[in-house]
Amino acid sequence: MIAEIGLPPLDSDHRLLMAMLDDLAKAALAGADAGLLEDQSLEVASSLESHFAKEERMLEEALDANRLGHIALHGALLDRLARLSGARLAEMGGQGAHDCLQALAKDLAQEILLFDLPAIPGILAIQK
Ligand SMILES: [Fe+2]
Ligand SMILES: [Fe+2]
Repeated sequence: MIAEIGLPPLDSDHRLLMAMLDDLAKAALAGADAGLLEDQSLEVASSLESHFAKEERMLEEALDANRLGHIALHGALLDRLARLSGARLAEMGGQGAHDCLQALAKDLAQEILLFDLPAIPGILAIQK
């Protein structure tokens, strides 16, 4: 279970992204081939990228003073995931790829908690 930040559109994205990463880790553990892992990894990357873009738009619209630090965390996670191609995951072996993806999921859960909570009232005000 991951923490909720109190913004429903972001919280539902977070649940979905964590479930997608978990599915990818399970597929790797079950021995899925490089092609399948590549498709699934690209799908996670594209969902993560659009989620981050949505979150960054919200922080920018709310003129959040701490947004640049948070945006940098997004970039780092996207880079990490981009390096996990299907071929790379297959090379790591089922258990290795699974553990690496679980570590990424754990860091995403941490990143979620680092959302600038004081920005939330401003974001909710804009959305009304
Ligand atoms: Fe974020
Ligand atoms: Fe997020």
